[in-house]
Amino acid sequence: MRLLVTGALGMLGHDVMRAGERAGHELVPVDLPELDITDADGVGALLERLKGEPGGLDGIVNCAAWTDVDGAESKQEAAHAVNAVGAGVLASEAANAGVPLLHISTDYVFDGVAPLDADGNPRSYLESDPTRPRSVYGSTKLEGEQLVLAASRAHTVVRTAWLYGVHGNNFVATMLRLAGERDSVQVVTDQVGSPTWSGHLAPAVLGLLERGVAGLVHMTGGGQVSWNGFTQEIYRQAEIDCRVDPTTSDQFVRPAPRPAWSALESERDDVIPLPPWQDGLAGYLAARDGMMRS
Ligand SMILES: NC(=O)c1ccc[n+]([C@@H]2O[C@H](COP(=O)([O-])OP(=O)(O)OC[C@H]3O[C@@H](n4cnc5c(N)ncnc54)[C@H](OP(=O)(O)O)[C@@H]3O)[C@@H](O)[C@H]2O)c1
Repeated sequence: MRLLVTGALGMLGHDVMRAGERAGHELVPVDLPELDITDADGVGALLERLKGEPGGLDGIVNCAAWTDVDGAESKQEAAHAVNAVGAGVLASEAANAGVPLLHISTDYVFDGVAPLDADGNPRSYLESDPTRPRSVYGSTKLEGEQLVLAASRAHTVVRTAWLYGVHGNNFVATMLRLAGERDSVQVVTDQVGSPTWSGHLAPAVLGLLERGVAGLVHMTGGGQVSWNGFTQEIYRQAEIDCRVDPTTSDQFVRPAPRPAWSALESERDDVIPLPPWQDGLAGYLAARDGMMRS
């Protein structure tokens, strides 16, 4: 397939490029300042040009977003421009060009209150669960989702969560750095989610495009854990001796509220689940090791 990747210089964008190359796709990477996804004329002209070239254009993977969750609270217009308007521009221009768009979204579209199963136990959020964002970032991402899904039945929105990869600042990298600076860290026990390695997510989202899976899809590392439990597993797998003390979210107040419950799961039978989050962590640590050695 010949695929346009927007936001190709970001954390997920890098891994989508690598996964696409490995899968034998022809990829066209773009990012700021070459292409601003809020610029409808620029997006339209690019799609027209690519469609006219040999190989045409078979799909778009949008990894571009405003991802500064706390910054969005004070820069609402800027976050809205990228996450809502930009997603809508890409979606409508792609629909006009007859090209499917795969767009990435987030667990922040939910309110973080765990839904309960028939026995009263917390269960993962499914695609059919109602949304209720509690932050500007979450609201703008939800509006983006709605614009994408309304523009074409061929478009796909993939909600993921707790994403980390070797090409971006992320929680795992921060915890590894802190372990080199101190004997113990304090990490919250009252936020639970599904850590997702971008090295697992990237080939899986390309797989959705390859198989023509459209609509709303949940895709995260399998299982769930608190940030505290995740940190303990990071140090265990990396063979690092650093104590992980428990704390709670009220000790770490930030501009945007974090969802207390972020576990996502797909209820669709055409979606292949990602490996368990522990395997994602092992993959990340191996990839990070390889990068540091080269
Ligand atoms: N990271 C997470 O924990 C997480 C969790 C759930 C979902 N997600 C979603 O996953 C996707 C990928 O996230 P990521 O962590 O890979 O993000 P990222 O590293 O911040 O990459 C986003 C890329 O988009 C670019 N960009 C920003 N505004 C743009 C615009 N107007 N036009 C074109 N490109 C623009 C950024 O460029 P600059 O760097 O120059 O701004 C950057 O290269 C996003 O949709 C995000 O909402 C992330």
